Formats: sequence, structure tokens, C-alpha cells
Amino acid sequence: MPAHLVTFEGIDGAGKSSHISWYCDQVRQAGHEVLLTREPGGTPLAETLRDIVLNQDMDDMTELLLVFAARADHVSRVIRPALARGIWVVCDRFVDSTFAYQGGGRGMPTQVIDTLSRWVCDRCEPTRTYWFDVSPEEAQRRRQAVRPADRFEAEQTAFFGRVRDAYLARAEAEPKRVLRVDGELLPSLVREQLVPDLARLLQG
Ligand code: TYD
Repeated sequence: MPAHLVTFEGIDGAGKSSHISWYCDQVRQAGHEVLLTREPGGTPLAETLRDIVLNQDMDDMTELLLVFAARADHVSRVIRPALARGIWVVCDRFVDSTFAYQGGGRGMPTQVIDTLSRWVCDRCEPTRTYWFDVSPEEAQRRRQAVRPADRFEAEQTAFFGRVRDAYLARAEAEPKRVLRVDGELLPSLVREQLVPDLARLLQG
């Protein structure tokens, strides 16, 4: 049975992170080895780049290239080798975040992101992406309740509106890969939306 790369996406405050560990447990219980990782990050170098991207002021092009530098290290050292060994990889954010945040949010050209993504993520495309969709207003309410904001979390609702629109465009362009999850429901109902899809993936 093939190993899958599964990614979790959504605007900050969409609640995806609280479901990832549960999802990995389900895959493990079905008898597979699973690696849970995140972007930007997942290797020592990429985690260093994450800290820079989230906290240091920079222009949009620098941000885009740093995100891809982190991804190149992560894909080549961790994700691709794991998939080759038959290990499932579950990643908290991946390339759709770049289309959404740097493309939609910052307005960087989609064509450039597409080219970089084909180059960096060669043989490393997610089989499934869960997009946790909540309104920018609801996401902002949730973020305020949690902790001090990083560079992205500090953005205004309009920024997250553009990020959400870009996620929607990705979901519409690739309906077989991207599953929209209604993130505004109670956590147990959010989880229920993942169950049948995971069962299908586990069946191969
Ligand atoms: P996130 O994964 O939500 O972590 P936490 O829950 O600890 O805040 O935060 C990572 C941030 O990085 C998020 O605001 C989105 C941003 N990001 C991009 O802008 N582009 C990318 O390609 C990736 C992977 C993340």
C-alpha cells in the first residue's frame, strides 16, 4: 500500500492543529507508521528559518523565498525519504499555505509560486489536503483568545479574507485532493467530517 502525504491547511485560528494528533493516531491504529511534521519547519534548518519568517521584518519576496528554502530542506531530508520508506507523512501546512499567504495574502504572483512549487515538491505532492475553513472574523476571535501574535497573526481581517479566497480557489481547482472541512462546527463535528475520508484513504 502506498504511503500518503496528507496536509492540514487553513487560516490562523481555523483550529486544524487540534485535530492533527488524533488523525495520526487513527492512521497508526490502522497499522501504518506515521510522521507528524509542520511547515515552515520540520528540520533544524527549516525551524531556524521559521523563527526568522514569523518574527523578523522583511519584504514579500524574501518571505516567499525563505518559505521555499525551508520547504526544500524539509522535502529533501525528511518528507521524500519517509514516503520512500512507506511512512505516512502528515504535515501541518504545506504548499497550499504559500499559495494562500504569499499568493493571496501578500499578492506575490501565483505563476512564480507554481514554478517554485513544482521544482521543490517534485514527487512530493499531497494525496489529500484538509482545508479547515472558518470565516476571517471567527478566526480572529479565536486568535485573540490564545496568545501574542506573530507577523502573520498580526495581519488584519482583510488579509485573512484574501488568504481564505486563495484557499477556496485551490479547493475548487483540485476538488479530488482538497477536502473542505467546515471549521466553524463543534470540534466533534469537525472530526466527523474527516472520518469517512480517512477510511477511504486507508483502504488504498
Ligand atoms: P502555524 O502553522 O499556524 O503555527 P502556529 O499554530 O504555531 O501559529 O503558523 C505558521 C505561519 O506561517 C502561519 O501564519 C502561516 C505562515 N505560512 C506562510 O505564510 N507560508 C507558508 O508557506 C507556510 C507553510 C506558512
